[in-house]
Amino acid sequence: SAPGPALPDLSGKTILITAGPTQEALDPVRYLSNHSSGKMGYALAQVAAQANAKVILVSGPTNLGVAPGITKIPVTSAAQMLSEVMQQVQQCDIFIATAAVADYRPATVADNKIKKKDDELTLTFVKNPDILKQVANLPTPPFTVGFAAESQNVEHYARSKLNLKKLDMIAANNIATAGLGFNSDHNALHVIWRDGEHHLPPQPKVQLAAELLSLVATQFNKKTS
Ligand code: CTP
Ligand code: CA
Repeated sequence: SAPGPALPDLSGKTILITAGPTQEALDPVRYLSNHSSGKMGYALAQVAAQANAKVILVSGPTNLGVAPGITKIPVTSAAQMLSEVMQQVQQCDIFIATAAVADYRPATVADNKIKKKDDELTLTFVKNPDILKQVANLPTPPFTVGFAAESQNVEHYARSKLNLKKLDMIAANNIATAGLGFNSDHNALHVIWRDGEHHLPPQPKVQLAAELLSLVATQFNKKTS
């Protein structure tokens, strides 16, 4: 394959990554979800494995496969994603949350298919747990990296997520930028940490993942040295 950016050496390190959308069931045949393709998380898993890290990928439903050597744990809902992440996180050095976790789930899951009735249907939703925030606020958290998909005030919202969730780093992208993000093979990121920031220009997601991983490795080494 074409020579990419130099990868950091992550041998001996374990990286836990969440990826893809979650699906929140409404009844046996319906769910609430989003358009996340999972591409960014899978690209990060791939380059982390190439950098010799042990990689655990907790993924919502996607059409993507993983290279041999990457441990993939498939999940459906946010609750399942949280439970699998919490079972793995204690043995991890770095946690990267790329998943587009549904912020809310239906308050109740009907046992049977909901039948068509009135002209209007009102559903009640309850907030899902914030997986990234729970990991970052553990007594001994791993180096924790979040993503922020924003359509406006990108830097402002990203910085408030970095601070409110107590993250080590956040990678923000403007989903309003034509042709970038979600289902695209390309993306651009504004990466922010406590005492620095870096703009990664629009590029293929695998290349972008390698550049982001280099920033992660540098700040991780600083924090743990
Ligand atoms: N995240 C998570 N669990 C959730 C919601 C979000 O782990 N229940 C993670 C995402 O994987 C991402 C980061 O939190 O790394 C930010 O997600 P985002 O949707 O941008 O922010 P929210 O905190 O959910 O706030 P909002 O959607 O209102 O912008
Ligand atoms: Ca959200």
